[in-house]
Amino acid sequence: MTTTNDIEQALRGVVDPELGGDVVELGMVKGIELADGIATIKVALTIAGCPMRTQIEGDVKRKVGALPDVDSVAVEMGEMTQEERSEVMSKARFKAREDAEPTMVDPVTRVVAVSSGKGGVGKSSVSVNLALALADQGFSVGLLDADIWGFSIPRMLGVGADRLEANEDGKIVPLEAQGLKLVSTGLLVDDEDKALMWRGLMLSKALEQFLKDVAWGQVDYLVVDMPPGTGDIQMALSRLLPQAEMVVVTTPQKAAQKVAARVADMARRSFMPVIGVIENMAGFTSPSGEHFKLFGEGGGRELANELGVPLIASIPLDPYMVEGGDDGAPVVRTHPTSPAAQAMTEAGKRIVELVPPAEDETCTARIDRLVEGLKAIG
Ligand SMILES: Nc1ncnc2c1ncn2[C@@H]1O[C@H](COP(=O)(O)OP(=O)(O)OP(=O)(O)O)[C@@H](O)[C@H]1O
Ligand SMILES: [Mg+2]
Repeated sequence: MTTTNDIEQALRGVVDPELGGDVVELGMVKGIELADGIATIKVALTIAGCPMRTQIEGDVKRKVGALPDVDSVAVEMGEMTQEERSEVMSKARFKAREDAEPTMVDPVTRVVAVSSGKGGVGKSSVSVNLALALADQGFSVGLLDADIWGFSIPRMLGVGADRLEANEDGKIVPLEAQGLKLVSTGLLVDDEDKALMWRGLMLSKALEQFLKDVAWGQVDYLVVDMPPGTGDIQMALSRLLPQAEMVVVTTPQKAAQKVAARVADMARRSFMPVIGVIENMAGFTSPSGEHFKLFGEGGGRELANELGVPLIASIPLDPYMVEGGDDGAPVVRTHPTSPAAQAMTEAGKRIVELVPPAEDETCTARIDRLVEGLKAIG
């Protein structure tokens, strides 16, 4: 006689290929009934439009349908609540951490990946100034330019001509740039055109090298400037650094809906939690005090609400930001009292509140680390 327990056992054979766990352990099974030979299975997907929907549905039908006493299988698909979604993500992250390969980045380093749903919104400018704002609070900060062939960080920090070198262990030593530990493809090749040669190299391989072969040392925060797009690099980063979390940069335009969906999907596929949203290129105030909303308004707040995360800061349009980017003179350093620099400094403080450095953390995190440490020594 087949029982609901048997059905649950069979469902352990249905794996969500993206989350890397079976639907039972991930808590996606919300109900199992068997009456008159009809099995009814309730499955909650992470998001309703999950691309894996058909596959999961088919697998459930096959596995359960193969049991004795089951004549037909009805699958009822639902969507997880925000809370359930966070829980499933942390389970998946835990698994990813268990399976992660060792990197040179300290497991307690806070990794902040600066991402966006589209290009040109100011990810690199925000990364540089955010890293400096964190360093200004006394933290040791690494800055990884993960835009492997579209790198712009070396120019923004004015270190175009410098090159990375290896230490006696054969590990790459990050370049000290304006108090940050910097690694970028731009510090390996002679000019931006030559970077095109790196196209042949798999992007995720280059990223892997930056994480495994770089002697980052003790850094409290590692800020990662992500390339535009929502693909391979995000996946590789979360595979290599399961502690990575995302800050999403967006413009104030109210076309946030589509961008939000893309970002949420990226977060889900890479298991990266979203810390919050930074709105960039918000209004411009002329020297005479006139205010212009060049790129609309409210988009940052809207995206933050949509994702259920805080709006970390709203950075105004600022000519010094452009100038600084071109001349290696970041606005946080050169015009610290300008509205853009102050907004970036505030963003740095907010990040520290939202993802505090390891020492200030809760007991749970300490216990987690203790357990991991004990495991490491056997
Ligand atoms: N707040 C701002 N005020 C004025 N200009 C800005 C601001 N933020 C960024 N910019 C300018 O916008 C341009 C694009 O910025 P940036 O390169 O940082 O974007 P990105 O998202 O990293 O782009 P990509 O997707 O190509 O990597 C740059 O010229 C930069 O100087
Ligand atoms: Mg960029």
